[in-house]
Formats: sequence, C-alpha cells, structure tokens
Amino acid sequence: MSEVFPVNDFGPAMPGLVMAAVAIVHVFLAQFAVGGGMLLCYFQWLAMTDRSEHARRFIDGYFKVLVLISFILGALTGVGIWLTSIQISPATIGAMVENFHWLWAAEWTFFCLEVVAGYCFYRCHKRLDDRTSLKLLMLYAFASWMSLFIINGILSWQLTPGRWVETHQIADGFFNPGFFPSLLFRTVVATTLSGLAACFVINTMSDIDREGKRQLINQTARLLIPMVAMPFLGAWYLAVLPADSRGWILGGSPAMMLFFSISVGASLAIGAYAIAGLVMRKLYINGATALLLLVLAFGATAGGEFVREGSRKPFSIRYVLYSNAILPEDVPRMREVGCLTNDPYPLRNAEEVPTPLLRTGALVFRRQCSICHTLEGTNAVAHLTGTWDLDQMRMNLAKLQHTKPFMPPFAGTARELEAMVQFIRWNSAGRPGQWEHQTDDEKTLSQIQTWLDEAGTESSSHPQ
Ligand code: HEC
Repeated sequence: MSEVFPVNDFGPAMPGLVMAAVAIVHVFLAQFAVGGGMLLCYFQWLAMTDRSEHARRFIDGYFKVLVLISFILGALTGVGIWLTSIQISPATIGAMVENFHWLWAAEWTFFCLEVVAGYCFYRCHKRLDDRTSLKLLMLYAFASWMSLFIINGILSWQLTPGRWVETHQIADGFFNPGFFPSLLFRTVVATTLSGLAACFVINTMSDIDREGKRQLINQTARLLIPMVAMPFLGAWYLAVLPADSRGWILGGSPAMMLFFSISVGASLAIGAYAIAGLVMRKLYINGATALLLLVLAFGATAGGEFVREGSRKPFSIRYVLYSNAILPEDVPRMREVGCLTNDPYPLRNAEEVPTPLLRTGALVFRRQCSICHTLEGTNAVAHLTGTWDLDQMRMNLAKLQHTKPFMPPFAGTARELEAMVQFIRWNSAGRPGQWEHQTDDEKTLSQIQTWLDEAGTESSSHPQ
C-alpha cells in the first residue's frame, strides 16, 4: 500500500478550498504576466514604426506594473502554491513531480529566463536601441508563454490523462486530450487580462492627454479581439473532458454548475463590452470601468479554476489517485487490513476524544474524508448527515461512491466505518465528555460488511 504523508488541518476551512484560493490568485497574476509580455512586444513595435505617439511612455509605465505584480506577487503566490499543496496533498504533488521531473526543470529554466529578460529590460531599456529592446521583450514574452505551455501540460494531465494511463509515456501525459484547448484558452485569457490591465494603467497616466489615452486604449483593445474564440475553445475543452466531469459541470453538481455559470457569465459580460464597445465602437473606457472589468475577469478565472479542480472529483489525478491520496488499486486491500495500519501520525487533541473507538473514527475521518469535508465548517459532515438515522448513515457511508459519485469508495474495514459513524455522531452531539457507543457488535458489523460488499471497491465515475 502507498505511503501515508502528514497533512495539515485548516480548522473550519476545507483544505481543498484553501488550495483553490491560493491557486486562483496565482493563476490570475501569472496569466496577466504572460499576456503582458505579448502586449509590450506589440507596443514596442507600434513605437518603432511610429504608429503610436505615446507608446514609449506607456511601455515604461506598464512595465513597472507588470514587474511589480508578476515578479513580486506572482512569485510569492507561486511559492505559496507549493507550500499549501504539500500541506494538503503531498501525494498529488509527489506524483506530479515524479512523472514530469524534467518538465519541471524546463519550467523553472523558462521562469529564470523570464525573470532575467524582464530585469534586464527594466534596468537598461532606456539605454538600449529599439531593436534590442524589442528582442528583449520578445524573449521575456516567449519565456513566460513557455512556462504556461509547460505547466498547462502538467495541470491538464491531472484531469484528462488520456493514453498516459496505459502507456505511462511522458509525451502521452503531457500532450493529453486537454492540452491544446486549455493552452489556447489560457493564452486568450492572458491577452485579455493584459489588455484590461492596460486600460486601467493608461487611465492613471496623468501626463498623457485624453486624446492620447483614447488612442492607446483603441490600440490596446486589439488584444481583446481573440476573446471571440473563447466560446469555441471552451466548448472544445468541455468536449474532451471525461463524460462524468462534464456531467458535474453541466448540471450534475449544483456547486460546479454555479461556478461554471459565474465563469461563463463574467466572460460574456467582458467579451460583449470589449468587442462591441472598445473594438467596434472605439469607445473610451475610464479607470473605474476598467477595474470593474478586471474584477469580473478575476471572477471568471476563479469560477473556471474552481470548476477545473472540482470536476476532477473523486480523483486528484484522474484514474490514478483519489483526492484523499488513496490509490484506487489499494482499496480492496484496505477493506481487509484497514486504512490505519500504515498511518503513523498521532491524533491531534486526542485527550478531547473520550473513547478508543472514537479516536479510531477520528483517524479514519482524517485519512479518508478531511480533504473534502470538515466536521463543522465548510461542507461539514455533521450537517450533511443531520437528518439520517444511524443505519441510514452506516449504509450511505458504506456505499459512499454511490451515495454521491464524486466521492471515492470507502477504503477501510467495517469496524473502521462504524468508528467513523460514531465519531461523526459524537461531533453532531457537541463532542460530549462521555459517549455510549450504541453498537459495534457483530450483527452491526456484519450488516456494514454486506453494504460494503454491495458497494464494491470501484469508483462509480465512468471509465475512460
Ligand atoms: C473528493 C472529495 C470528497 C471526499 C474524499 C469525500 N467526500 Fe463526501 N462529499 C463530497 C462532496 C463534494 C459532497 C456534496 C456536498 C453537497 O451536496 O453539498 C459530499 C457529500 C457527502 C455527504 C452527503 C451525501 C448526501 O447524499 O447528501 C456525506 C454524508 C459525505 N459526503 C460524507 C463523507 C465521508 C464520511 C467521507 C469519508 C469517508 C467523504 N464524504 C469523502 C466530497 C467528498
């Protein structure tokens, strides 16, 4: 059986949500940085060919914002992702590093190149001639897009590993079915974010008159044109998703559908404003509106990333690893030997839990459920099981993957299940200092065993 790693307890915050919060901020900033590189190349070209009066001034101002945001906030949140993910799912990160070792090395090399090119431009571009400046910016843009290219392969592999599941070839995993739709989609998001941020930055430049600003905004708006491809790229991405993930998004899971709608709605609003107003009618946009559109874009990114993460359930790497870090092939064995035999980590605040059976239950909950549920905070089990009687609860949890197909099968013995049931009920009862176990006698355990056997050990999400 695979090794168990220690994970952190975030109290009332669900670990999955903590991860999502850090990741969403990082993705937003990183995609802005990628688009920013392209936008600057375009304006450098406009400046060199005398097509824009204020392009040089704009490049100067915009680059400072880009450097500040992408080098400082982007890098900090990037490190933040590693810090949070190793506390939440070391097994997932471990698998990602193990399978794509050299790609990570390439990723970090491109990131270094991006930082060096960006820093050189920042320090020296006033002294450089136009062609050298353009080359430096192109190097910056290329390196940052390449880091998107690589990370995109690794992230999309988690959701759509495709042929890799059989071949275990890096190329099959990297160029998985989701690779191209997601790469193109993210590239369009990147240019959009850079364009919207530019509209905001232009408004803050008090030394450029209104006419000059209008010209810059009209030129910036051209970076928003690729947005027209978004619906097609989005549909393409949806089409390559496994059928059940697509099902969650398109109605199977209310939360997924809600976030999907937020993402689509916000993108449509931005797209309509950008194409109809800025591109076609060449309207002016003030700082407040530009900021509002950026906030909407953040909402769209948040919704989209949430859906991408959420629709992988019950897997953290599809078909390979469940979200709770249990390997699908280990489940039958864990049904026999239990899920705690190789879990060496002591229970936190064990003295508050009055009986050995409850302490076992707490450990089972920690191992199998705590990645997606809390006891009392978000997605709290006490709340979700509130209306069930004791036997209903035993049966529904024994048949976990059928109770809700986005949960993995229960991976433990009948006794562990009973311990967990008691532990959840003890929590619902307000964690009293004493607890009478209703039953953990043979009859109950053999009934639970029957339910476990009926449920089987397979996930109920569809095969590929
Ligand atoms: C991969 C994430 C994940 C894991 C692991 C997981 N769950 Fe869930 N569970 C969910 C989600 C998402 C829901 C839906 C919540 C809702 O409907 O609001 C849910 C729903 C439930 C429900 C309510 C079911 C219903 O029909 O209303 C219960 C009870 C529950 N889970 C218990 C557990 C227990 C106990 C474990 C551990 C043995 C567990 N879950 C493991 C994600 C998970």
